[in-house]
Amino acid sequence: MTKLQNVAVFGAGGMLGTYVIEALRQADFAITIVSRPASKSTFPAGIKVIKAEYTLPALTEALQGQDAVVSVVGTMAKLDQITLVDAAVAAGVKRFIPSNFANAPDMKGLEPLMKIREVNASVERYADGKRDVNPDFSWTSICNGVFIDLALKRFSPIFGFDIPARTAKIYDSGNEAFTASTMPDIARAVAGVLEHSVETANKHVLIRSVQTTQNEILATVEAQTGEKWTVNHVNSAEIIAEGEAMLAAGNGRAYGVLVAAQLFQDGAGRSIVVSRENAANGLVGVEEKDISTIVRDVLAS
Ligand SMILES: NC(=O)c1ccc[n+]([C@@H]2O[C@H](COP(=O)([O-])OP(=O)(O)OC[C@H]3O[C@@H](n4cnc5c(N)ncnc54)[C@H](OP(=O)(O)O)[C@@H]3O)[C@@H](O)[C@H]2O)c1
Repeated sequence: MTKLQNVAVFGAGGMLGTYVIEALRQADFAITIVSRPASKSTFPAGIKVIKAEYTLPALTEALQGQDAVVSVVGTMAKLDQITLVDAAVAAGVKRFIPSNFANAPDMKGLEPLMKIREVNASVERYADGKRDVNPDFSWTSICNGVFIDLALKRFSPIFGFDIPARTAKIYDSGNEAFTASTMPDIARAVAGVLEHSVETANKHVLIRSVQTTQNEILATVEAQTGEKWTVNHVNSAEIIAEGEAMLAAGNGRAYGVLVAAQLFQDGAGRSIVVSRENAANGLVGVEEKDISTIVRDVLAS
């Protein structure tokens, strides 16, 4: 496979997309952003932006001359990626990175959340099927677990750590180990996949910035803020029952509630995306960090 140099990015102005653009810039890729005509997203100066509806003709034209497509579209647009794949194949694109950026496919999970994972899987299967149509077409999906910087900063009531209020919600013992990744590391992995396109073709690339527990995070935030935090202990089984009841009542916030309980429930073994030994970190240029480094960056931001 020749070098993948020309890269089109969908969802470039989103939460993760912003970091992906920065990582691709640092790695000297030639970037084209494809954004919807009605989008309010803003982009860094100096990067080519094409406005296109998510239709096959418009996207096929937009993707002419591109070697790779990186999709960082949000949850609402996951199924629209079928059209993105079709257009990529029609335009002769060689690599498609779908907007997965979640857990590894073989991890256990709570049943309502497995349905969401199936959406990611369906896009991957669709892309895989296109290899029969065009043998030069390939895909790579990046699996990174929780966005830990985002979760600490923005999802505090669910993830358990409310930095301004200095309160922590600890699920069960607080000792369930989980792996997670920061958004800059995930973005670095996107660039790393494109730099190592042969080794990463048609597979899931599993990465991790850290392996930790809620109790380790609590000890770290207390040490770094120099304050004793207020700790509320909750029972994961009860939270799961609450989440399922919310779901049955049509409350979309149930998903966040269930994601946290899925991650933190004692002994459930649903939270390690990949072991340090088996992670693709080395290949794609991601360095594992200590939780204290991640917490320090979050507190400083
Ligand atoms: N593992 C985790 O903890 C975690 C956390 C958050 C997100 N994620 C995953 O990361 C990926 C990116 O998520 P994100 O939160 O960064 O995305 P986001 O900010 O919600 O959206 C990214 C972009 O998607 C594009 N888009 C296309 N169609 C859209 C539509 N119908 N509605 C809204 N936006 C649309 C928009 O780009 P234009 O406006 O330029 O067209 C938008 O800027 C997703 O796969 C998500 O599931 C994982």
